[in-house]
Amino acid sequence: MLGNLKDQPADKILMLMQSYREDPRDDKLDLGVGVYKDAAGRTPIMRAIKTAEDRLLQTETTKSYVALGGDAAFADAMRDLVLAESVAADRVAGLATPGGTGAFRQGVDLVRMANPDARFWVSAPTWPNHLSILRTVGQPFSEYPYFDAATGGVDFDGMMADLDGGVAAGDVVLLHGCCHNPTGANLTEDQWHRVADLLLAKRATPFVDIAYQGFGDGLDADAVGVRHLAATQPEMLVGASCSKNFGVYRDRVGILFATCDAADRKTVQGNMNHLNRQNYSFPPDHGARAVTTVLTDPGLRADWQAELEGMRTGMLALRQSLADELRQRTNSDRFDFVARHRGMFSRLGLDADLVETMRREHGVYMVSDSRVNIAGLNADTVPVLAAAIAQTCA
Ligand code: LMR
Repeated sequence: MLGNLKDQPADKILMLMQSYREDPRDDKLDLGVGVYKDAAGRTPIMRAIKTAEDRLLQTETTKSYVALGGDAAFADAMRDLVLAESVAADRVAGLATPGGTGAFRQGVDLVRMANPDARFWVSAPTWPNHLSILRTVGQPFSEYPYFDAATGGVDFDGMMADLDGGVAAGDVVLLHGCCHNPTGANLTEDQWHRVADLLLAKRATPFVDIAYQGFGDGLDADAVGVRHLAATQPEMLVGASCSKNFGVYRDRVGILFATCDAADRKTVQGNMNHLNRQNYSFPPDHGARAVTTVLTDPGLRADWQAELEGMRTGMLALRQSLADELRQRTNSDRFDFVARHRGMFSRLGLDADLVETMRREHGVYMVSDSRVNIAGLNADTVPVLAAAIAQTCA
């Protein structure tokens, strides 16, 4: 039986991680997988998380099961962080999941249970695993234009025209809440409002994937779009990840929210719990409990926010210095968009051959679509990268 299996297509981001590890060069530069790194190249355990874990170690008296949907205190704290006051609590069902990927997968499965014909609309480009998951479960999807390679910004007119022309009632439109992956180009608040109006008119359901809240313009500013949708749409899905903003990557901490009519909430929650039971039963608890401890203790929360803010402003400074270096070395404003992008990523707009040349000749690892992880840089490597780009693109 197992001999019938065929090789699966490799995930290009994870494949890149592997090739980077195998590269013996000392001066190689890892701008691949979306993991935050400090100036020394370390992915730190955030101070508040470390303290919360210490506290849990001292006070936890059992590792017995919690609840199929996860700890209610985690759902409450995350609802407050992501959705704040935008929607009444009795209209929100929450499901703890293994990371943001788990939230997306459970959300897709929930859509399938509710409406197997629902077509997903995903930005072109999007995180490759979105497409892979939709293919794996066999859910129909279409792409809408999103990125304007010429300006490095959002092709908003193209996006709206395609959604307006194609989306049918009951379809699901996937949006990145902030820090768009892989491009770094984001909707303005006004554009979020226009998208919300369109989705209402179309009777389509938004599904917001928010994996980098706090990495762009700040915790509240990054949630402007998702909160506006929560306030205006009768139903929506939100998949949130704690991997990056709490740095708990390997602990797998995420949550799926469904906002709905208060009268439907119990059934929606029951279906979500059922999905957890079918796929892996109880969700992981340790990381979620550490996150809850941080969010509910004012001292820890303030310290976490301060550290997160340091990470965010550090990435912004790296963006500005990379854009400045590139302007100087290419004698053009071609890469100015790097300073306007937000979050960990920017898509540079190099073709796959140039990306390969960057890897071969300069030891620079970026995803084949020319997505770079800005957090992989520091003050010393910004000029090195700029020089390599200028030379490769000359
Ligand atoms: C990324 O896009 O690099 C991250 O979200 C990590 C991943 O799982 O792909």
